[in-house]
Amino acid sequence: MFQQTAVPVGLLSNISLPKITLSDKSFSMWRKFIFDNTGIYFQNNKKYLLESRLLRRVNYLGLSSFEEYFNYVIDTTNFSKEISHLYDAITINETFFFRNQPQFDSLVTTIIPELIQNKITQGITKIRIWSAASSSGEEAYTAAMIISELVKPKFPNFSFEIIGTDINKAVIEAAKKAVYREYSLHQTSPYYIKKYFNRNGNFYELKPEVRSMVSFKTLNLYDTFAVKQMNNFDIIFCANVLIYFNAESKARVVSNLYDSLNRNGYLFIGYSETLNGVSKAFKLVSFPKTIGYKKE
Ligand SMILES: C[S@@+](CC[C@H](N)C(=O)[O-])C[C@H]1O[C@@H](n2cnc3c(N)ncnc32)[C@H](O)[C@@H]1O
Repeated sequence: MFQQTAVPVGLLSNISLPKITLSDKSFSMWRKFIFDNTGIYFQNNKKYLLESRLLRRVNYLGLSSFEEYFNYVIDTTNFSKEISHLYDAITINETFFFRNQPQFDSLVTTIIPELIQNKITQGITKIRIWSAASSSGEEAYTAAMIISELVKPKFPNFSFEIIGTDINKAVIEAAKKAVYREYSLHQTSPYYIKKYFNRNGNFYELKPEVRSMVSFKTLNLYDTFAVKQMNNFDIIFCANVLIYFNAESKARVVSNLYDSLNRNGYLFIGYSETLNGVSKAFKLVSFPKTIGYKKE
């Protein structure tokens, strides 16, 4: 044991820490544990990435090996708190506003009008949208801005409920605060920036009218029981997260999302992702410069 009490990482920068490495045996143990809990699968070539991410927690907790950290996490007295720090450490949260513009265009031109036609026949006046791996909220808030700008004026009698979820607690807290750096806005037009953000130095704070359209909570997509509580969605974004799963976990997550969608609802995944070999349940629908997966 190197040191038991938690030391803030910043204070460690001047201290020389013993070099520890993730052995192949330990890598296999950690990979299985992470996969079983999250569906995230670290390929062999991602061993050093996992090592550097885990090292943050090992150092923070003052532990002396990855095996010791493993025992720390699975200890029932630490598990519920530390598992969330572990998820925060190992996930990659890259995102930005208007990341996949053609998907948002298809919502406005085709999908929402089509959904609204169906809803009217059922006497329903609400559309429900879920950003299922929302990171710090940019995708969910993009949907909110687009709806506010281009959909609401045409369909004033319809309400839109937007929910963002992520396994990473820290990014969900950031999403709730809705204060962003310039990078998040690099694909946002000056019109939207001016209309929907308040600038404060290098930070951009989303205006309350957009913030109030979206709610956020932590949710692990690999936890079937938790996902079963997410029902009756008309549109689900699950973008740029399937790439971190393997065939088995992708199939489970996509099947859960299928169950969370209403009939005639749509699933959007990332630009470089596909459901080929993952699910045959959806109908592939083409839109200009993008595709969606429809539940018929
Ligand atoms: C690269 S970001 C994508 C964010 C956004 N969807 C986009 O496309 O810009 C991937 C997100 O998936 C989340 N994630 C990874 N595994 C997850 C899981 N099992 N359940 C829920 N979220 C997960 C990560 O925490 C991360 O914030």
